[in-house]
Amino acid sequence: MTDTLTPVLTAHWDDPDCFTLAAYRRAGGYQGLAKALGMPPDDVIGQVKASGLRGRGGAGFPTGMKWGFIPQGDGKPHYLVLNADESEPGTCKDMPLMMASPQVLIEGMVIACYAIRAERAFIYVRGEALHVIRRLHHAVAEAREAGYLGTDILGSGYDLEIVVHAGAGAYICGEETGLLESLEGYRGQPRLKPPFPAIEGLYACPTVVNNVETIASVPSIMVNGADWFAGMGTEKSKGFGIFSLSGHVTTPGQYEAPLGITLRELLELAGGVRAGHQLKFWTPGGSSTPILTGEHLDMPLDYESVGAAGSMLGTRGLEIFDETTCAIRAALRWTEFYEHESCGKCTPCREGTYWMRQLLEDLEQGKGSEDDVTKLLDINDNMVGRVFCALGDTAGSPIASTIKYFRDEYLEHLKQGGCPFDPSAATLFAGDGAQS
Ligand SMILES: Cc1cc2nc3c(=O)[nH]c(=O)nc-3n(C[C@H](O)[C@H](O)[C@H](O)COP(=O)(O)O)c2cc1C
Ligand code: SF4
Repeated sequence: MTDTLTPVLTAHWDDPDCFTLAAYRRAGGYQGLAKALGMPPDDVIGQVKASGLRGRGGAGFPTGMKWGFIPQGDGKPHYLVLNADESEPGTCKDMPLMMASPQVLIEGMVIACYAIRAERAFIYVRGEALHVIRRLHHAVAEAREAGYLGTDILGSGYDLEIVVHAGAGAYICGEETGLLESLEGYRGQPRLKPPFPAIEGLYACPTVVNNVETIASVPSIMVNGADWFAGMGTEKSKGFGIFSLSGHVTTPGQYEAPLGITLRELLELAGGVRAGHQLKFWTPGGSSTPILTGEHLDMPLDYESVGAAGSMLGTRGLEIFDETTCAIRAALRWTEFYEHESCGKCTPCREGTYWMRQLLEDLEQGKGSEDDVTKLLDINDNMVGRVFCALGDTAGSPIASTIKYFRDEYLEHLKQGGCPFDPSAATLFAGDGAQS
């Protein structure tokens, strides 16, 4: 564990021209690619495996292993698809990364494509994020002009094209198979797995889907070595990651630190909970990860420890809520989002999110009965494991976890016949801006 920041991906975000190819090169950019192209592709996969890098999109699947699943010599095209859809409430690391440092992403993509023997890659970027789409188009053009994309990259004989694709504007299009459907031009609804994308992905060909931050971490592993990366973090959760603090915190922003740092340490770096207030609850990794409370302040933020505490590290989107927040209202807001974003393919998710939202609406206004609290848990139990994708599995997380920690608050609403909290007191605090 450590209380220091380890800026790698965020190291140059303060430079005014950090998004340009010239600035990226000045900071040592594209050295990782030169190194990778001098190695056999399997050795590149081996180095990523040895680093212990795990997917930064939420599930934490080992990246090198995922690349290694792509069958070789199968005569089919292989694809890399970059998941830049970032739509989960509280998750806000990939967009700033792409705005500040698009070239590190492109460099990581070329390395990954070389390793899995792909000659075409796609960046599926959230459709509403026009500023990011423009930046990526510009960055791809710059990289192509300089010979980092196109034919015979850096004289290696290796060819690659990257297509920037504007997404369809739905949270479910971030789920990897929903994303592939959408990229193929269909409605973005998840596919039944298996087959997994590594065997039948885009256009039924072997495909790796990786998160933005995952791929952006690869160039530094090529330059500094697997041991350097594995030397940070904890035994099973290696390396660094971007922790995004938002909500009732003095200085919200992006804090890049080794996995295993604690919320207490991050809050110290961020100036603490807003002045005059105390921490009530927080999400470790976006809205789909069960909430935790002040008793978890010293828990290492790694996959294993957060899992053991009954939640998930997820995307490290740390939303901080102080004592002025009504836990039911927070759960209701998240449930409204999941109801809206359920793609409707599975009945338990489509109906369950709709019922849960209605029950929560009543409970927040002090209507209903204690049975409704039990009913909420029951509906959630009937969703988990009975749906196609993780949206349905986790949509009830905010509800089940707020009931776990704040059942009394649910009952207090019923007793008072209304919400005991002053909604204006919980207004989000506008902090001093981002910090990396
Ligand atoms: C509803 C839903 C939305 C998701 N949205 C994203 C997203 O925006 N970005 C992302 O990288 N992964 C997202 N994921 C996870 C992806 O399915 C997939 O696990 C990830 O892109 C794999 O990349 P990684 O191995 O590099 O983490 C989402 C999953 C679900 C169920
Ligand atoms: S769980 Fe929900 S979002 Fe996922 S496929 Fe089923 S209906 Fe769609």
